[in-house]
Amino acid sequence: IRNTPPYLWPARSAKPFDQKKKPAPRHQRENQLKEKTSPALWPARSAKPFDRKRKPAPRYQRAIPLKENSNPRTRPPKSKDPVINRCPIEERIPIIMEKNIAVIWGDCSSPEIVKQTLRVLDKVAEKYGHTFHYTDAAMGGEAIDKYGDPLPRHELDKCLAADSVLLGAVGGPKWEGLPGEQRPEKGLLRLRAGMGLYSNNRPAKIWPQLAPASPLKPEIVAKGIDFIIVRELIGGVYFGKHETYTLENGEKQAVDSMPYSEHEIERIGRIGFETAMKRRRKLCCVDKANVLDTSRLWRAVMHRLQAEYPEVEYSEMFVDNCAMQVVKDPSQFDVIVTENMFGDIISDEASMITGSIGMIPSSSLGDGTRGLYEPIHGSAPDIAGKDIVNPTACILSAAMMLRYSFGMAEEADAIENAVNKVLDKGLRTADNMSEGCTCLGCTAMGDAILAEI
Ligand code: IPM
Ligand code: MG
Repeated sequence: IRNTPPYLWPARSAKPFDQKKKPAPRHQRENQLKEKTSPALWPARSAKPFDRKRKPAPRYQRAIPLKENSNPRTRPPKSKDPVINRCPIEERIPIIMEKNIAVIWGDCSSPEIVKQTLRVLDKVAEKYGHTFHYTDAAMGGEAIDKYGDPLPRHELDKCLAADSVLLGAVGGPKWEGLPGEQRPEKGLLRLRAGMGLYSNNRPAKIWPQLAPASPLKPEIVAKGIDFIIVRELIGGVYFGKHETYTLENGEKQAVDSMPYSEHEIERIGRIGFETAMKRRRKLCCVDKANVLDTSRLWRAVMHRLQAEYPEVEYSEMFVDNCAMQVVKDPSQFDVIVTENMFGDIISDEASMITGSIGMIPSSSLGDGTRGLYEPIHGSAPDIAGKDIVNPTACILSAAMMLRYSFGMAEEADAIENAVNKVLDKGLRTADNMSEGCTCLGCTAMGDAILAEI
C-alpha cells in the first residue's frame, strides 16, 4: 500500500466512526427545523453517512484504471511530499470515497464559518458520490470550557483517528487572562505537534476580482501576486523553552528559546524546493542570518539541499527586508520557505495584500496524508454572532483538504471555481467589500458558493 501515491491509499476503516449510529452532525442538526418547513430551500443533505441500509463502501477504494499501464497499485510514488504529490489531470481515476473528518468548530465567530464549510462539503459529497463522516473534536476555548484543557488527549486521539481535520479558528477575550500553557492557542500548537504537521502551506494569491480591495497601489498589484509561504510549523521559538523568573534585584525576566535541529530544517527545506519545482522554480529562504544562529544553520542546510535542486533559482533574504519587499514588489516571490514565527508574521502580511485575510486558507501536513486545514485568520471575536464573518477562507481550506489529503482534485476545483464565480458576480463580504459590489453575510455567502457547485 505504501508503495502507491498517498492519494490512492485505501480509505481507513470507518470503524471508530461507524460502530454505533451517531446523531446527525451539528451543522445538519441545527437546520432540521428549516428542512422540515421549507424543503425546497434545504436540499436533503442526506443522512447518507449514517444510513446503515446503504451498502457500505468497500474498504479498498474502487480504482478503475483509465488506460493500460497506469495501474495505481504498482505505480511508484513520485514524491514523498503529499502537498505537491497531487494527481495530475490526465491520470485522474474516478473513485468513490468514504472519509472521516474530525471537525473542530472553534471559538467566537469560528462555528459560523465551519457550518458553511460543512454545507459545502456535503454538497460536494452529494455531487461526486462520496461520503464524509464528521466527528466533532473540541480544541481551544471550547475544550477549556468543557474539560479545563485546551486539547485533552481524547480529543487529539479523535483527530489522529480521522483521515483529516478541519478547523475554524480558536481563541478569544474570554480566555485571555489564562497562563500560557492553558490558553486556547496552546491547544492549537499541541494539535499541530501531536499530529506531526511540520509543513504549513499558505498561498498568497490575489483573486483578480479582489484587486480593488488590496491596499497596494494598482500598478504593484498589476504585476501579479502569486506566491506560497512554506512555514515550518512545529519547531523554533513556538516550541522552545518559555520561562519567566525573578532576578536577584526583584525584577522579572522572561526567556523564549528558539531551537532548530538540522533534520527539522532539512525536511521543511525539501518541501520548499519540491514546491518550487512544481511552480516557477524560485525559492527564497527568509531568515535573520545576520543575527541568529538558528538562521545560519538554516542557510547551511539549505545550501546542502540546493545542490540537489540545480533547476531551482535559490535566494536568501532577511526577514525585515522580506516584510518590506512583500509590499514593495510581491511579484518577485514564488515560494518562500521560513521558520515558524517568521512564517506566522509574513503570512499575515501576505494575506492582506491579496485583499483580505478572510480569503486565505492553509494546509498543514507531515509525512502522511492526514492534515489539518484551517483559514489563516483568527476567531474574530468582535464580529461573532453577527453572521457577517467571511466563510471563504475556511471553505477554501476544505478544498485544500480534498486536494491534498484525499486526492480529490476535481472536487477541489469545483469549490475554487464556485468561489471564483461568486466573486465574478460581485458578491463580497464586509472584509473585502468594494464599490459597486454586493455585501453578503456569512450564511448568504455560503448559499452563494453552494449554488455554484
Ligand atoms: C496562525 C495563528 C497561530 C500561530 C496562533 C493562533 C497560535 O496566528 O495560525 O497563524 O501563531 O501559528
Ligand atoms: Mg498567524
